[in-house]
Amino acid sequence: MEILIYPHEILKTKADPVERIDGELQGLIDQMILQMYRAKGIGLAANQVGELKRLLVMDCNQEEGKKPSPVVVINPVITATEGQESYEEGCLSVPEITASIKRPAQVEVKGFDRNGNELRIEADGIVARCLQHEIDHLNGICFVDRLGSVKRALVRKKLAKAKAARKTRR
Ligand code: NI
Repeated sequence: MEILIYPHEILKTKADPVERIDGELQGLIDQMILQMYRAKGIGLAANQVGELKRLLVMDCNQEEGKKPSPVVVINPVITATEGQESYEEGCLSVPEITASIKRPAQVEVKGFDRNGNELRIEADGIVARCLQHEIDHLNGICFVDRLGSVKRALVRKKLAKAKAARKTRR
């Protein structure tokens, strides 16, 4: 399993609803959780590993020596938002780049957990931010797409440079 790098076509594509929670999906969920921890990320959407399924995993509560507590949300929908807040975001698909993005400060998200039970999450702070960032991915939107055109051009330039550097190191 590999994490796709922006601007990959799959990252720009809207994911399809999950229709069945079966062994195959459970396997994908487990692999995504592993991949998220391995890459030291706090969230991962299925598009980022090449799967166009409405599925995200996250863990905003990672501390050394603490038991991991991953959260899985299948078919997540933002049902309410409140406030506005700017926050510095990064993304495993956009290496070495962060940018301040304005989003609602609080969200209510509904969906299903990995066993198909209905899930309702009310969140603020980093959890609200992470949920919105990952749901954006499922809609084919990367955080850099939310920047103005000038900043986005700058990010593209930086990414091209980073890509060239990776090739040289290889
Ligand atoms: Ni991301």
